[in-house]
Amino acid sequence: MDIVIAKTKSECDNIAAGIIRQQIADRPKSVLGLATGDTPSGLYARLIELYEKGLVDFKDVETFNLDEYRGLSKDHPQSYSYYMHKNLFSKINVRDENIHLPNGQALDAKQECMDYENKIKDAGGIDLQLLGIGRNGHIGFNEPNNSFASMTCLTDLTEDTIEANSIYFDSCAEVPRTAFSMGIKTIMQARKIILLAYGKGKAQAIADSLTGPITPLVPGSVLQLHPFITVLLDEDAASLL
Ligand code: PGA
Repeated sequence: MDIVIAKTKSECDNIAAGIIRQQIADRPKSVLGLATGDTPSGLYARLIELYEKGLVDFKDVETFNLDEYRGLSKDHPQSYSYYMHKNLFSKINVRDENIHLPNGQALDAKQECMDYENKIKDAGGIDLQLLGIGRNGHIGFNEPNNSFASMTCLTDLTEDTIEANSIYFDSCAEVPRTAFSMGIKTIMQARKIILLAYGKGKAQAIADSLTGPITPLVPGSVLQLHPFITVLLDEDAASLL
């Protein structure tokens, strides 16, 4: 595990953008696993800058997002599909057919999960997975106590996650209670992982995940077992290490 502690979030964003740029330079048909939320937004802005300068080409890149709220349509402003198009996809040359997120409105949830796993498999697996982490240590929407053996599934959000994510909605009541998420096993099968965490609010989850016991109670702790992971932290997120 490589852990980099930088003074600022933007230093970490630059390092992460450099790793992704190198990944695509080495393998133009890279399969990227992507994340949403506050954490990766600066990184996506850096990637757009690199693209505009002609320093990275997403033409043959395929993407799979970690998760999507159940029940929200693709164009709902709080859906992760909407977030990704607004913050990245509409500003780079990734092809529409190469973009994948779980369909939040799928009627048959089990089938949707199986189809998503199969699409990842058919693409050859994920080369580089980007992760944030929840205050409760969740990765994707794998909440504390989800099995390390889980594949893409429909999962219940904890009260803590609902409250943390309610800042993006008009009220807590509007936050969906369930979401589709890649499982812990799906995430761990990625060939490389970048974990980003910023701010004091993530310090405990980072300390528990990187230095505590490996346990489903702290989903991020499973990352200690991944052979190729780079962790990028600002000083606040690293403050309890
Ligand atoms: P955030 O969410 O980037 O909005 O802090 C991360 C997460 O909950 O995984």
